[in-house]
Amino acid sequence: MSKAHFGLIGLGVMGENLVLNAERSGFSSVVYNRTYSKTEDFLKRSATGRNIQGASDLQDFVNKLERPRRILMMIKAGPAIDAVIKQISPYLEEGDLLIDGGNSQFLDTERRVKELESQSFGYIGMGVSGGAKGALEGPSMMPGGTKASYEAIESLLEKMAAQVEDGPCVTYIGPGGSGHFVKTVHNGIEYGIEQILSEAYDLMSRVGGMNCSQMADVLSHWNSTEELSSYLVEITEACLRTKDPESGRDIVELIMDKAGQKGTGLWTVVSALELGAPVPTIYASLNGRVMSSIKDQRLEAESILPAPIPEPFDMGCLDDGMHLLMDAVVLSCIASYAQGMELLRIGSLEYNYQLKMPAIAQIWKGGCIIRSRLLKRIQDAYESNPQLANLFIDPWFSAQVEARISGLAHIVAGAAKSGIPVPCFSSTLDYINSYRTGRLPQNLVQAMRDCFGSHTYERVDKEGSFHTEWID
Ligand code: 6PG
Repeated sequence: MSKAHFGLIGLGVMGENLVLNAERSGFSSVVYNRTYSKTEDFLKRSATGRNIQGASDLQDFVNKLERPRRILMMIKAGPAIDAVIKQISPYLEEGDLLIDGGNSQFLDTERRVKELESQSFGYIGMGVSGGAKGALEGPSMMPGGTKASYEAIESLLEKMAAQVEDGPCVTYIGPGGSGHFVKTVHNGIEYGIEQILSEAYDLMSRVGGMNCSQMADVLSHWNSTEELSSYLVEITEACLRTKDPESGRDIVELIMDKAGQKGTGLWTVVSALELGAPVPTIYASLNGRVMSSIKDQRLEAESILPAPIPEPFDMGCLDDGMHLLMDAVVLSCIASYAQGMELLRIGSLEYNYQLKMPAIAQIWKGGCIIRSRLLKRIQDAYESNPQLANLFIDPWFSAQVEARISGLAHIVAGAAKSGIPVPCFSSTLDYINSYRTGRLPQNLVQAMRDCFGSHTYERVDKEGSFHTEWID
């Protein structure tokens, strides 16, 4: 049998679908899984009649691949990656390339790129987005590592990726761990938008008294607009329309209100704090999940700290697509993207990733979980000004603030009076208000710091560093 073009390690759902995608794109493949029965099952089931062979051990796997070998690992992030690298390295030869397509911590990838490249193997850390369906039909991919390593898999990735009007949803991201850094930030934005839509659902249900089908109609309207047309809005509508097959009830209402996470949202926020990048909307979404997980405490507190009975307030109506609520959703979604892009810009400077912002917006337009029509506007904004400090000061986006900020403020105020938490909406409002305030009250913070700790301060009227004896 002739040698395969492409190898895959790890037959989870994502791995299976990616290898089926690669084979359909014209790349004969060989697969390896730690448990061989899983490989046999895959070969009998989905890979029948396809140009895909199995390998029972890593040596056999490596031998079945043409050189230089191109091997994609779709395994759990963390120590499992290091373990597989250690096991497979003795069989690899100069120029062979390992690709980690999982959600690895970008600093782990940074280390692995250095270690592997010093042994003359290529190593790519690649964010892959799109879930199981995306993996099969065309994901968005964010590969980082050396340019030479990327070039060895460029044609494969371009054929496998989702395609949009201006090309495939894959590009060379940059050196080191940049691919996984960009994927981490993608996921932070994903967390933000998921929470924003959940806050809108909560308000429509608890203030508006709307049922799932009515809310789904609103989501359907939002999905037809330039500002909100997106994959996450589309699937939210589908979630709201789905019934529990057993009881016939809306399945969303039967789901426990506790959201977990696998780490990428946390890493986004940790990186942002370390880099000094403000990401309050994204942070609020992460914190929303943390608060949701303390269900027992929340149930107890409900009787000790009773919230006001929600008072109806104007959010717009079904016929106008809940226009005031839509204002809050639009600005908060823009804030998620703006904060994510800002984190990418600052991270790029710190790690010398030389990220190309328009190209990142371009590859997020298709295949990935945060794909949306808004990304075209984001791409345009960075194309017309590659040094843009913040999306909100681009003319199209600043016009959105102008048109919608009073709607957002009205929704946040109404939710506050009703005791309904809207962490992403309120963080977005504070974020925009802070960003557009030339003078913030941190002059007083500085005074206090200098008063108790002689930390010194700068002045607005003269240059230098100053200290005052505040108390006799
Ligand atoms: C994607 C997703 C995916 C992510 C899940 C889980 O782009 O396809 O981002 O990679 O792992 O959405 O994320 P949480 O479990 O942390 O919500």
